[in-house]
Amino acid sequence: MKRIKAVYPGSFDPPTNGHLDLIERGGKIFDELVVAILRNPEKDPLFSVADRRKMLEQMTAGFDNVSVDTFEGLTVDYALRVEAKAILRGIRAISDYEYELQMALMNRKLQPGLETVFMMPAEKYSYLSSRLVREVAQLGGSIERLVPELVEQKLHEKMDVAHKFANGEQLSGKTPSEGKSKSRKKKA
Ligand code: PNS
Repeated sequence: MKRIKAVYPGSFDPPTNGHLDLIERGGKIFDELVVAILRNPEKDPLFSVADRRKMLEQMTAGFDNVSVDTFEGLTVDYALRVEAKAILRGIRAISDYEYELQMALMNRKLQPGLETVFMMPAEKYSYLSSRLVREVAQLGGSIERLVPELVEQKLHEKMDVAHKFANGEQLSGKTPSEGKSKSRKKKA
């Protein structure tokens, strides 16, 4: 019997309830779904790849056919390596469409045998993005119900460290990298 494996690539910095919603939907239509976190040495993420992996593993522990992995380089090369037939991506609003279309067509050019499958998360997550979650959390707003509790907890821990660092407590043994999230660049 033909089994269809898909890869759901992304930055997941941090993973949100919108991602989880998409994973749940993807897990229902694909036999196997690999959530693949891009290891991008050029970006300055809020969470390390190891942290994001741990969060996603905990979030998806209840899904038998979902696994979490990390990759570097082209998504299509990774998908081929793990013998996936499809790339799953979420489209929230029309504003996502242009970027996603470009990516899907470029991926098709690179690897014509791979299909990109778009799914829509629940409407209540249509405005949700990792970038906004980071921004709201960094500015002290509530991110309740936008991310799983375990992610909320991790974000609060990060913000506490950043606050202490900004308040001059770096002399008490905190490393600069723990405190640098205040000045990080925004990204999608
Ligand atoms: O969660 P994001 O940041 O929107 O995910 C973007 C991601 C990781 C899917 C995209 O940047 C990607 O596929 N990067 C890997 C490099 C690659 O394949 N680039 C060509 C894409 S057409």
